Amino acid sequence: MECDFTGKEAYRQYFNPKDYLNMHMQFESENIPVHEDLFSFVLENLQKAFLVDGIGGDTLIDIGSGPSIYQLLSACEAFKEIIDTDFLEQNREEMQKWLKKDPEAFDWTSMVKYACQLEGNRENWMEKEEKLRKAIKRVLKCDVTLANPLDPLVLKPADCVLSTFCLESACKDLPTYRSAMRNVGSLVKPRGHLIFAAVTQETFYMVGPHRFSSLYLTPEVVRDAVKEAGFQILWSKMSSLHWSPEITDAHDVIFMVAQKLKGA
Ligand SMILES: C[S@@+](CC[C@H](N)C(=O)[O-])C[C@H]1O[C@@H](n2cnc3c(N)ncnc32)[C@H](O)[C@@H]1O
Repeated sequence: MECDFTGKEAYRQYFNPKDYLNMHMQFESENIPVHEDLFSFVLENLQKAFLVDGIGGDTLIDIGSGPSIYQLLSACEAFKEIIDTDFLEQNREEMQKWLKKDPEAFDWTSMVKYACQLEGNRENWMEKEEKLRKAIKRVLKCDVTLANPLDPLVLKPADCVLSTFCLESACKDLPTYRSAMRNVGSLVKPRGHLIFAAVTQETFYMVGPHRFSSLYLTPEVVRDAVKEAGFQILWSKMSSLHWSPEITDAHDVIFMVAQKLKGA
């Protein structure tokens, strides 16, 4: 089932945001996502980081947001400003549609209700949507393979950088992965936080009819890359995934919260 590395041009051509969202963010009933094992794990850990551990501040940069908002639903309670980023113009456009309440935007209602339910207040979903829309101040281009992923912009180092399932999609090999981790880590201020979720032991995922490569990672590789980038891991958790082999061969998901060392 392995596939050749999906380069930038193939991403531009074949990554259709609606196909991605329809395939990966489906709900089997009003309350239960098809991929509940993934979303309950990721959303609960994000809640722990932002609402229980109290990681917060002025600015959070989400790296490789894609066309997704689920990963920001707790972050908007903890940061004044969220900067959304992605490599692809079509994903940034999809995000703008949601921000502007374009009738053609993907309908996130079920996911927002689900995240609010996990936070203990399902009825709060409309306020949550509005809060997130207000918090997302910019939608920028990024490329994690660049030393400054936001080039040509140079932003003030952020209190927190978040990234979900981006680096393993963007990197062709482990040296590129380690370097991308350093690039993304450079956007965090000293003592600031890096929070991310990654799939391990995955070689591909589907977006509509198209197969996209994923860099095969182990938890050790991920942890070493985070440490090499100048971070101390505060906590990490893993969970198994049980997805249809037609959509991905991912094995586990790892969630990690790390803090930038003072001199890094
Ligand atoms: C599996 S999707 C994850 C999207 C989103 N974070 C989520 O959790 O749904 C991978 C994302 O990585 C982005 N990507 C691919 N190559 C990239 C690169 N070189 N720099 C930044 N993002 C990239 C893609 O455009 C896509 O949005």
